[in-house]
Parts: sequence; structure tokens; C-alpha cells
Amino acid sequence: MSVDGSYKILLGISGGIAAYKTPELVRRLTERGATVQVVMTRAAGAFVTPLSLQAVSGRPVRTALLEPEAEAGMDHIALARWADLILLAPATAHLMARLAHGFADDLLTTLVLASAAPVTLAPAMNRQMWRHPATAANLRLLEARGCRVLGPAEGAQACGETGPGRMLEPAEIAAALLDGTPQGGPPPGDATGLLADVPVLLTAGPTREAIDPVRYVGNRSSGKMGYALAAALARAGARVSLVSGPASLPCPPGVECVGVESAAEMHAAVMARVGDCAIFVAAAAVADYRPAAPLPGKLKKAADRLTLELVRNPDILAEVAALPAGPFTVGFAAETEALAAHAEAKLRGKGLDMIAANLVGRGVGFEADDNALLVLWPGGRCSLPTLPKPALAAALTELIAERYAASVTG
Ligand code: C5P
Repeated sequence: MSVDGSYKILLGISGGIAAYKTPELVRRLTERGATVQVVMTRAAGAFVTPLSLQAVSGRPVRTALLEPEAEAGMDHIALARWADLILLAPATAHLMARLAHGFADDLLTTLVLASAAPVTLAPAMNRQMWRHPATAANLRLLEARGCRVLGPAEGAQACGETGPGRMLEPAEIAAALLDGTPQGGPPPGDATGLLADVPVLLTAGPTREAIDPVRYVGNRSSGKMGYALAAALARAGARVSLVSGPASLPCPPGVECVGVESAAEMHAAVMARVGDCAIFVAAAAVADYRPAAPLPGKLKKAADRLTLELVRNPDILAEVAALPAGPFTVGFAAETEALAAHAEAKLRGKGLDMIAANLVGRGVGFEADDNALLVLWPGGRCSLPTLPKPALAAALTELIAERYAASVTG
């Protein structure tokens, strides 16, 4: 990310008719504060000129792999490292095929291979090409590697046919990428269809474990991620109940909110409702321990040392995951190190269907507005880049919808 907190986006344009919309896409991205570096394939130049894109992006457009002048400035490896996000729009069937098979035969495909940045595709092609088994197989390969796919939309196509294959509108792509609120349409990946009317139970926020009537053991969770996720799930059509510990956030629109304070209260509220839900998401930072014997009156200071005896709280998530015929369970893992290993162990140890892991401490995670997630499920994983929590929640909602649908259909 830039020093001012904006995203550096490498926009790769391949040669489809939808390329004519990319100057507007650059505008929509830059008006959200992003810096956009355009890279075009040779075929893209037949639909839109580098000069137009240079004018709107304010940066020289890159087209060839080994241009002596361009390489003398930012060479292709530096450019690959520069990007926070790679957006490929339009992504043609040919570009998807080259990416799926690891080709590096021009600047754009080389950059994708040389970059660790997350990749988002906005496919655009004729409906038959979109439906072709080769394209479908390439799409599955790309998705399995963690590429995010936005669209395509259905509708009239430049070739005169009607069906799936239109690139999403620039405003929808920019919103889905940068703020997770696609304008005037369902969330990308059609989570709406997959979650329509699905009952979802969520936990969020911290818990407070009473020491006496005025003091408690607590943690730094703000509840922002859980609330953003509840809102995104509700936008995707789910019927959402949110059991939340103390958080100073408003109940999201369309969500039923139940306020609790301690882990024991959260446990009781969840167990009373879990029989009615199809998906359970545990985003709360539940205290693992509580004072063994909370005092009925305020503790007075006297001795120099004070020992507080703590006892284990029930693990709500593990208990729900162990229910016979229980819901699809999603857990969170906040770790200070060895993210993937700890998350993998928790996924298996608690018998979850999915886990979303993030690093905490050193100014990231709790209380922050941005976050990044590593999402794991049995047999797959996906890295979601550092994004504002609402955008991250929208992306996670898509993944939950996809995995839930796969679990239901077997
Ligand atoms: O084992 P750990 O506490 O790191 O696991 C975190 C996950 O378990 C989170 O999804 C959290 O909401 C859930 N959890 C729970 N009940 C507890 C402790 C954690 O539901 N007592």
C-alpha cells in the first residue's frame, strides 16, 4: 500500500471488446484513491489506445516485456513487486488459458507470475466461449489458486448474442474490489443466489468476564469484522442473527441482534438458536478463561499481590462443530505468528468446515479498519488481500456461500 494508505493496482487489459470500458474503470478506481498502472496485451491495443489510458491513469502505459526505456525506469520485476492488487479486466478466454497454465509469453502474464499480489479477474467473452469446458476448467484452476472472479454478467453481447459473458460495469468492479459494495447489482460470485433465505447465526465482539460488579477480564476485539460480515451476509440474502458481546457498533440493517456480555451468556444464546441455523460463523473473540469466583461486591485493594484464579470457558465453536447434523461451521483464528500452521491445526482440531485466519498485534487485526485473511477449508485455501473490513467481509461471504453450496450439494 502507498504511504497515504491507497492501493496500488496493476490493471491488466486483454484484447476483448469490453476493453473500451477500461478508461472509465481507471477513473472509478482512482476516484476511490487507488493508483493505477495499466499494462495492456498487444490485442488490447485494437480496442483502446494506450494514450487514452495514460491520460486517465496519469502514468505511462506498459505494453511490451523488454522495452529498454521502460525497463530502465521500473523493470518488470519491480513492477510486479509494486502492485498491491492485480486486476485483469477484461480477462479474455485466451488470457485465462495462459494464466491457468503459467505462461509468461508477454509482459502481463510475466507480471502475474512474478507477483505475490492477489489477482482478481473480470472475464468478458462470447457466451459460448464462457461455457466451453476448456474455459470452465481454466476458471476452476484459477479459482483453486485463490484468484477472485468478478462476473461475468448476463445480457446482450457485442457479437449480437445474449447470455453470460459481459464484463461487469466499471463501477461494479471498482466497488467490489475496493469497498465491497457493488452498485446496483448482486455481490460478485452471485452469493445472493447461494445464500437467499439461508439462516445464519454469527457471534461477534469481545466477551467480558466479571471479576466483581465493576471489573472484568476482556480483550481488544472491536467487533468490526463480525459486524461487517453480518451485514455482507444479510446483503447476500441470508437471514442473519448476530449474538454480540459488548461492541459500540450499530446493529446492521436486516440483522437480528442479541446482546450478551460473558462467554457463558454467549454460549447460552448460541445453543438456544443453533438448531435453526444452516451456517454458524464464530467471529467473536471469546475469553478462553473466566474468574473462578466473581465477587458479589467491589474488590478492595489491600494486599501487595493479588492472584486471580481463572477457569476454562466452554469453546462455543468446537461445541457447535461437534453437533450431530450441525450447521456449516466457520471459525476465525487470530494469531501473532505461524498463521497457516495454527489455522490448519484449528480447522482440523475443532472439525470446522472453514477457518479465516488473520495476524494480530503490531497495529493490525483488532480495532483496525483494514485486515487481510488467509481462508482455509479441507482441501483448499484462498488469501484475501489487505482491504477495508467491509470489502473483506464481502469477499469472505462469497467464499462461505461457495463452500456452503458445495457442502449442501455434496
Ligand atoms: O482456539 P481459539 O480460541 O483461537 O479459536 C478461535 C475461534 O474459536 C474463533 O472463531 C472464536 O470465535 C471461537 N471460540 C469460541 N468459543 C471459545 C473460544 C473461541 O467460539 N470459548
